[in-house]
Amino acid sequence: MGEHATGLYGSITNRRVTVRDLQRATDAGEHWSMVTAYDALTARLFDESGIPVLLVGDSAGMVVYGYENTVPVTVDELLPLVRAVVRGTRRALVVADMPFGSYHASPAEALQTAARFMKEGGAHAVKLEGGQAVLPQVEALVQAGIPVIGHLGLTPQSVNLLGGYRVQGRGEDGELLMRDAKALQAAGACAVVLEVVPAELAAKVSELLAIPTIGIGAGPSTDAQVIVWQDLVGLTPDPAPKFVKRYADVRTTIGEAVAAWADDVRNGTYPGAEHSYK
Ligand code: KIV
Repeated sequence: MGEHATGLYGSITNRRVTVRDLQRATDAGEHWSMVTAYDALTARLFDESGIPVLLVGDSAGMVVYGYENTVPVTVDELLPLVRAVVRGTRRALVVADMPFGSYHASPAEALQTAARFMKEGGAHAVKLEGGQAVLPQVEALVQAGIPVIGHLGLTPQSVNLLGGYRVQGRGEDGELLMRDAKALQAAGACAVVLEVVPAELAAKVSELLAIPTIGIGAGPSTDAQVIVWQDLVGLTPDPAPKFVKRYADVRTTIGEAVAAWADDVRNGTYPGAEHSYK
């Protein structure tokens, strides 16, 4: 289970990680990680690598379904992915992302969507985007016993309103973001994602909140970090956003492997006798 012997990475081996474990780890000053997952095979790999939280992000809309952004992806498209990730894991807390249009209308709509992710998908928590506007939704879900992760800063479901993927929370907007973060905590959110905001602002928010902050493009001071796994291993094409650090070049490895296999098929060296049955 990785090289870490204590804390979230080593101490929980016989059960699922819970949101209380995440809070305890944060209180103890442990920086933990959340990685996206969309299928059983990679979810199992990440689980066995000790990643404590897996997010079935609405980023699936882009990396799995090929949409231009996350707006079109639906609950019905995400549900099978949530089920697969839950089935592939034994230890990780699995978070289902509530897609655009599945919670905005009312707390009742949010409850209906979240309940589907919990009952039909087996998710252990949900995530939704927004501040003040979604507080009644967050309160309703928490009252129903559903752990909720908030999401502030660059909220990709609002890309049409934001006019693109750019840094959020600069200047006076920073004050607004801090108010939203405090309000989400007061509404019962168990953590808040901060996406593409100035590092200094993320540090202030992390200082302000008791619940964990989870950064993506938010500098080093958040309590946790989240990343889309295809970005992390270099599967997504360049250019990557500034906050992405590539830990592998899987795009090249897979591209070369399938090309080599196709060459072998073309020149008759695959399958060989060792790959054939008598
Ligand atoms: O959908 C997603 O993958 C996300 C993370 C990048 C935070 O929302």
